[in-house]
Amino acid sequence: MSDLNKKEREQWGSQIMFVLAAAGSAIGLGNIWRFPYLVGENGGAAFVVIYMAVIFLIGYPIMVSEMALGKKTSKNPIGAFKALAPNTPWWLVGAMVIIASTIILSFYTVVTGWAAAYLVKTVTGSLSKGTDFTSAFVDYISGSYMPIIWHTIIMASTIGIISAGVVKGIEKTVKFMMPLLFIILIGLVFKSLTLSKVSEGLEFYLSPNFSKLTWNSVLAAVGQSFFTLSLGMGVMITYGSYLKKGQNISDNAAWIVALDTIVALLAGFVIFPAVFSFGFNPASGGGLAFITLPAVFAEMSFGAFFGSLFFGLLLLAALTSAISVFEVVVAWFVDEHHCSRVKSSVVIGTLIFILGIPSALSNGVLSDFKILGMNFFDFMDFVQGNVLLPLGAMLTTIFAGYVLKAEKVKEIINEDAKKIVLGKCFNILIKYIAPVSIFIVMVMGLIDKFSK
Ligand code: PFF
Repeated sequence: MSDLNKKEREQWGSQIMFVLAAAGSAIGLGNIWRFPYLVGENGGAAFVVIYMAVIFLIGYPIMVSEMALGKKTSKNPIGAFKALAPNTPWWLVGAMVIIASTIILSFYTVVTGWAAAYLVKTVTGSLSKGTDFTSAFVDYISGSYMPIIWHTIIMASTIGIISAGVVKGIEKTVKFMMPLLFIILIGLVFKSLTLSKVSEGLEFYLSPNFSKLTWNSVLAAVGQSFFTLSLGMGVMITYGSYLKKGQNISDNAAWIVALDTIVALLAGFVIFPAVFSFGFNPASGGGLAFITLPAVFAEMSFGAFFGSLFFGLLLLAALTSAISVFEVVVAWFVDEHHCSRVKSSVVIGTLIFILGIPSALSNGVLSDFKILGMNFFDFMDFVQGNVLLPLGAMLTTIFAGYVLKAEKVKEIINEDAKKIVLGKCFNILIKYIAPVSIFIVMVMGLIDKFSK
């Protein structure tokens, strides 16, 4: 046996590192450009209450179950399903989440590249007052060079971090990036809360409006809950597989969920007061981050400084999420093919980079290339968000509830915990509530998509 094969599987240096890494995965674009807008559009505080309930009833149980599969087996998603249900087709669920991670990373690095490009643009002052921010963004994403150059830089950084390993790569990165992310976010909250129309912004964001709360809001809350917690794509199985004895799941997962929720809520405190103070309309997604907010920063005093902080925040949030999905794929390759981590990272990273090129060009030279009426980027996003991710999360809950058995999963989750928090209700949540609600969200999402 070579030295390589004898080398022990890595483990988290401490529980805090595990929490920071998993929170780094959870806290991403979904928290900053998706959650605040969902709240504003779906009844403010009324939606926040529903969202919290969903996180507690569905998000947390799935998260701890995924971690349990990883911790119990110390294996990547395919290895974990194989070890827990040998000679059954359940390993295909592991394969599916690894494919989901591959697809997500291929275009997530493209968007992360946009954030990096906008950080540079803001720092260098090229987004000043008077710019047509919509055309600036459209010109940028439809270009043929810059999106590819940034996609390359981000993918290379991701490869660099993951090839260094769990302790020297992931831990070292999140140890400085996550505190920095929190500091920047808090700084931006303070700035936003001193702007002129704070109350209008907060009114739009939080004033409870039950008439806006519909059945669709509940579905949106469920969808957002597993997207934001990085569930259904093998991240929590993989990160859980580096837990050692003495490092518990139940408390740590509660911290991860809490941090993720706090960051999402605070993002709204940054965005809405700023957008309203300068007379803009709130938008969601890329339009908010790359068109509305640059316009807001151009009006604001010290806008270049605060704009740079905002894009720095976006970049940190996206990078720590990107490394987590890449780790899912690399962990599988290292475990199952006994290939060195560096070699696996470079080879797989290059393949994912190539898969991302059509996404990077999908608003430019490839804009006429359509699959099911969507450009390549949107198609990839659709496949992961509407199909693979919910399917992965649902099948994982079914596996945990019925194959491994809820009682057994609970035992793994509670082992090494000082206090037992998960009681009888866990069985009901994981066996019935979680899979059924995800199924409904998935079907309704598909109907919605194709009925347009
Ligand atoms: N949890 C991330 C967010 O809220 O933005 C999203 C995400 C991260 C999705 C990593 C997928 C992923 F692999």
